[in-house]
Amino acid sequence: MVVTSVSQTTTVSVVTPKRRSHDLVVVANRLPVRRSRDVSGERWTTSPGGLVAALRPVLENRKSAAWVGWTGSTEEPPPAWKHEGMLLKPVALSRSDIALFYEGFANGTLWPLYHDAVRTPEYHRTWWDSYVAVNKRFAHAAAEVAAQGATVWIHDYQLQLVPAMLREQRPDLRIGFFLHIPFPPSELFVRIPWRRQIVEALLAADFIGFQASLGAHNFRRAASQVTECSTRGGVITFRDHTTRIASFPVGIDVGRIDTILADPLTGERARQIRESLGSPDVVMLGVDRLDYTKGIEVRLGAYRELLAEHRLSVENVVMMQIAEPSRSNVTGYAEIRESVEQIVGDINGNFATMGRPAVHYLHQGQPLEELVALYTAADVMLVTPLRDGMNLVAKEYVASRVNNDGVLVLSEFAGAAHELQEALLVNPHDVEGLKTMIERATLLDPDDVRRRMKRMRRVVRRNDAERWATAFIEALEAV
Ligand code: G6P
Repeated sequence: MVVTSVSQTTTVSVVTPKRRSHDLVVVANRLPVRRSRDVSGERWTTSPGGLVAALRPVLENRKSAAWVGWTGSTEEPPPAWKHEGMLLKPVALSRSDIALFYEGFANGTLWPLYHDAVRTPEYHRTWWDSYVAVNKRFAHAAAEVAAQGATVWIHDYQLQLVPAMLREQRPDLRIGFFLHIPFPPSELFVRIPWRRQIVEALLAADFIGFQASLGAHNFRRAASQVTECSTRGGVITFRDHTTRIASFPVGIDVGRIDTILADPLTGERARQIRESLGSPDVVMLGVDRLDYTKGIEVRLGAYRELLAEHRLSVENVVMMQIAEPSRSNVTGYAEIRESVEQIVGDINGNFATMGRPAVHYLHQGQPLEELVALYTAADVMLVTPLRDGMNLVAKEYVASRVNNDGVLVLSEFAGAAHELQEALLVNPHDVEGLKTMIERATLLDPDDVRRRMKRMRRVVRRNDAERWATAFIEALEAV
């Protein structure tokens, strides 16, 4: 085996895994790396995403850890390789798997259904068949690398059948599952034709974690409705197997944000950003994946009305909206892009003055360093999803406000609202209420701002990603 490490980058170095030798196996739709190529060949770089940062401490503590996931492309991946001391075991997805499993069942059926059906979910038998086939592939890959009695931690809605498929092949394993998105009210969940298969498959896990107690509650109700299980508090028994369920709100990597903030370049960049916006009194910011659950048009619409009613003025307020491209082939995503861009054009057409746009819009992802500079530059952060499992942007903004200033306007339908009660909480469906809150955010008394931010910072710093991952693994291994 040859492994060349360059900071967080590894060149491809195929290894033949010693079969079944890993005591912790993470199974997630995506591997925690991205592929790039340069003159020296192919490279895999750690993805900026939150999950890998959250899991790093628990992975590093293990003798031998592995991560099973998809590379994000249809290119043939190497069989398995080592990256930052952990084995990466790729699962290949064909074009047809991407269309039917990823864009289809995962993001055309489950994603909208689990987000309170804010878009109509589609039910297609071919999508379901592909979901079953791909979940089997993930289960098989995990079974191949897990040591006898190992702990396996499966993540998110794309892989809900893996617990049962893995249990069947490897009854010796301890299996945990964490749902990063909401679990919907059972009245909505029972619409899905494969509701019983999904619940039964999840109940093969020893432990299931949800972002909020509401998700755990909804799941317990759905389980009682669609299977012959018995429930007692956080324990569900089905066919002699017991599953514990609990809420485990996910945190962010506060240490990484602290490191970025400690770099003088971050402060310098934040000053540059404010200057390039024309040094307004108030900078308002939105940062989202371009997804219809995020309430981006609602927020822009409220801003437009506030400008039209002269309750805000481009003389002293500027808005920035970062919208990271996402799932562009899935129904609903092209439409949301079109509608966001139409509102942005309309706002600027009506309210901008020469050289001074009312809203700056970037349809581009940004590295965390740039996001932290943006959070530092923003007086008001607008996080207004119609439904969101957690929303880590809200927590990242709070973690970036070292001077205890800055106002967070937060949707009550984001999981983060349970912990960040000192935010200005809004119902994003109530346009008048949202407008009042945005206006209030620009007028809040500085002492009130500091008091709120101080409390929120305590919560975000205490329940960080490391604590979340460690607590989950401890709870799973204590079962
Ligand atoms: C959400 C989901 C993740 C998913 C991410 C990005 O946060 O909970 O499972 O990986 O969105 O979406 P994508 O479809 O690009 O993986």
